[in-house]
Amino acid sequence: MDNRPIGFLDSGVGGLTVVRELMRQLPHEEIVYIGDSARAPYGPRPADQIREYTWQLVNFLLTKNVKMIVFACNTATAVAWEEIKKSLDIPVLGVILPGSGAAIKATKEKKIGVIATQMTVQSDIYKTKVQLLDPQVEVTSLACPRFVPLVESNETTSSVAKKVVYETLAPLVGKVDTLILGCTHYPLLRPIIQNVMGPEVKLIDSGAETVRDISVLLNYFEINRNREAQEKSDRFYTTAGVTSFQDIAENWLGTTITVEHVSLEETLNG
Ligand code: DGL
Repeated sequence: MDNRPIGFLDSGVGGLTVVRELMRQLPHEEIVYIGDSARAPYGPRPADQIREYTWQLVNFLLTKNVKMIVFACNTATAVAWEEIKKSLDIPVLGVILPGSGAAIKATKEKKIGVIATQMTVQSDIYKTKVQLLDPQVEVTSLACPRFVPLVESNETTSSVAKKVVYETLAPLVGKVDTLILGCTHYPLLRPIIQNVMGPEVKLIDSGAETVRDISVLLNYFEINRNREAQEKSDRFYTTAGVTSFQDIAENWLGTTITVEHVSLEETLNG
């Protein structure tokens, strides 16, 4: 047993899609979350900068005495997961492997699409991981740089969002039977994405798959939280405005939460 919290990091609110799944599957586990909305999106940034920011978020989570860190961000996973997981003595999980495995299981025609940030697409990591599992699968990747700003500004159902999703996904419509949502922000646009792709296309939410892996690791290392332990207190931190983060988070998670602001200058860069 280990009653310390699990740490989650993302460039903003996207990692909440993983947290929602954690709350559903492992409701007794305690959460510390940091979203770097002040510097989102990470996707168009150079790899070195994404690596530096990710290290800052990791170091912040370590000060909160976490027992495991989840990169609830595909972009950070693509760039920095291999390096950072080797440097820490607690388990560090990314979102890319679980999503790849689930897509392989789901595809019938061996035609998988991946939508993600520019950096994740550029890294070709999904294609590499999927084709390692099954070299016969055809993988088509598409960067969707306009999606994260929509989600960060809480515009997930507007007519602008519908137009952007429709225009962006047009090259993939009718070409794939399975679509990996390769950015944790994208499940917030899921109804529109499903509508554009058609009901027969299976959408893979890497967050949901990741929580299954979290559970396996908690069991393997015997670090589950004691269900009889005193009441947990989940903590959410953002580098940007508390109100906007809280609105999006409470709406998405369906519960009230405590959000604190973290100063980039004093805490992360300091
Ligand atoms: N949510 C992130 C991801 O899964 C990052 C999006 C961004 O900041 O560009 O890739």
